[in-house]
Amino acid sequence: MISADLIVAGCQQLLTCRGPAPKRKNGLQDLGVIEDGSIASNKGTIVFTGTEKEMNTKVRKSPECVEINGKGLVGLPGLVDCHTHLPFAGSREQEFLLRLQGTTYQELAEMGMGIQSTVRHTREASKAEIVSLCQQRLDTMLLHGTTTTEAKSGYGLNLKDEIKQLEALREVDRVHPVDIVSTFMGAHEVPKEYKHKKQEYIKLLTQKIIPAVKSKGLAEFFDVFCEQGVYSLEESKILIRAGKKAGFKIKIHADEFTSLGGAQLAAAEEAVSAEHLIAISEEGIQKLSNASTAAVLLPGVPFFLMQNKRAPSRSLIDSGAAVALATDFNPGSSMTESLFFIMQLGVYTQEMSVEESIHAVTLNGAYAVDRHQSAGSLEPGKKMDMILCKAPNYPYLVYHFGVNPVQHVIKDGKVVVKNRTIQ
Ligand code: NIG
Ligand code: FE
Repeated sequence: MISADLIVAGCQQLLTCRGPAPKRKNGLQDLGVIEDGSIASNKGTIVFTGTEKEMNTKVRKSPECVEINGKGLVGLPGLVDCHTHLPFAGSREQEFLLRLQGTTYQELAEMGMGIQSTVRHTREASKAEIVSLCQQRLDTMLLHGTTTTEAKSGYGLNLKDEIKQLEALREVDRVHPVDIVSTFMGAHEVPKEYKHKKQEYIKLLTQKIIPAVKSKGLAEFFDVFCEQGVYSLEESKILIRAGKKAGFKIKIHADEFTSLGGAQLAAAEEAVSAEHLIAISEEGIQKLSNASTAAVLLPGVPFFLMQNKRAPSRSLIDSGAAVALATDFNPGSSMTESLFFIMQLGVYTQEMSVEESIHAVTLNGAYAVDRHQSAGSLEPGKKMDMILCKAPNYPYLVYHFGVNPVQHVIKDGKVVVKNRTIQ
């Protein structure tokens, strides 16, 4: 008999999303569903998944065992948000109103608003303020089922303020149940002090800031915004090479508005992920189809920016790319913490199936932040990070849109959200 200190018995359906990761093509259709599914964990690690009947013969409850009745609930892995800009100060609803009157996101950026305006607010904020903002946002994420999130700096754009953002992330990671995967994104924009001397800022990044951030152990990934008017393909390559040399794993904001070839660069540089991809070329799709690089799609962005373009999810999936979905949570192009909403956008606006979009925010999301060994699926040996949603079956999670289905959240084997309330 296996000993367990937490069991969830008799879910309507248990979606294990079992690997191997990443899932591609038709593999994305099989969610590893167990009807009348049960799961047990011990000291934060999953020890059993199967039917309730099987569990009764194989699992012995320890004296202090916590038991949850899964009736009326669908269980699935804790969601993994593999692309966010979490540690920012201020908000940009005034720009949103200007956009409603017809000014575009890029025009706002050219007017010195956009990312630069969040840089101003973030530079002015203290570390304690950023910690507190992150805490509130992580609470919202947790209540909406996210148990692991990536988080990028990139609103400091100088050594001091980038480090302030990353240290805030480290502090909040220590006290909050949601796991944070940190990304250094000093190459998110060109700071306004370097507007006419971008090469100097690139030098500062490659020679000073990148090695300094690495030596402090503040981030695992390095990310660059490869885009017309920001960093060209050639500049992105120089930055990525410096990031790799320092020991970072790589992510790239690639082909978001213009087709610069960021996807090809990501594949060639063996980046862990290429993100956005709305303007990806045929060649880019082909390069990602057999690459280890994940294709992270962010349908909240064209929705929030009210653009008709979409990332070509169907071509990417059908050609074999490892597709994940994420919120891109940020104040300028996607102001939402809800991965359920993003999953719904994947289905309603990007021709993805329900099964593909669930995998895209669980196992493939975990793959896109290199956490697939421990998170993203419900399998013995992995961390007990799971959510229980009020629904009769899993298609209902997308069918009933725009509301939060999450009833309970379990993180590292502990119930951290019970009846929609953080414990
Ligand atoms: O992923 N594309 C660049 N960065 C963000 C937007 C950041 C902002 O507008 O503040 C993005 O869309
Ligand atoms: Fe982004």
